[in-house]
Amino acid sequence: MSDPIHPDIERVLIESDTLQARISEMGAAISNDYAGKRPLFVGVLKGVLFFLADLLRTVTVPLEVDFMAITSYSPETREHGLVRITKDLETSLKDRHVLFIEDMIDTGLTLGYLLKLLSAREPASLEVAVLFDKPSRRLLNIKPRYLGFRLPDLFVVGYGLDYREQYRNLPYIGLLKTAVLQRK
Ligand code: IMP
Ligand code: MG
Repeated sequence: MSDPIHPDIERVLIESDTLQARISEMGAAISNDYAGKRPLFVGVLKGVLFFLADLLRTVTVPLEVDFMAITSYSPETREHGLVRITKDLETSLKDRHVLFIEDMIDTGLTLGYLLKLLSAREPASLEVAVLFDKPSRRLLNIKPRYLGFRLPDLFVVGYGLDYREQYRNLPYIGLLKTAVLQRK
């Protein structure tokens, strides 16, 4: 079934049914790998909101969840590598099996920084599940254990991903019209 298209969207890249089907597969793999382990899922707000919520509902092992928030990526400034934590975790990571959940790896600088920070807290294990990967822009060599989709080097919105804080609520992944990106 195809989703109704928002007027600012040029083209839908990934329909919601396709997102859900792939996320179920990821959840099954995670459930299998973490059997008997009670993992702690760590999500980075806000982009991960929908992915984390849908993924958690497909995972069958007992789990805990916690969140952190960082300064958001701005497509205008592209200040890569500088990450400021605006909300830290409430759970201690020491001796926990931590699964770090991210919406997107682009250059990998954000994830690289956060992984270094989290591994210093001495988890029993630390793995990464990412919904979208843009491998052509990678600056740091990071290979997530679980990956949803590879994307071309295009700016996308929807399913949690924003442009100027808009479009997170679209149920699909889409490309914005050029006119929207040129608006002041
Ligand atoms: P990195 O440090 O370059 O890997 O940046 C990754 C972060 O940038 C992601 O967590 C997203 O929040 C954001 N980002 C990267 N590409 C896009 C995009 O196409 N649309 C919306 N946000 C994006
Ligand atoms: Mg993000």
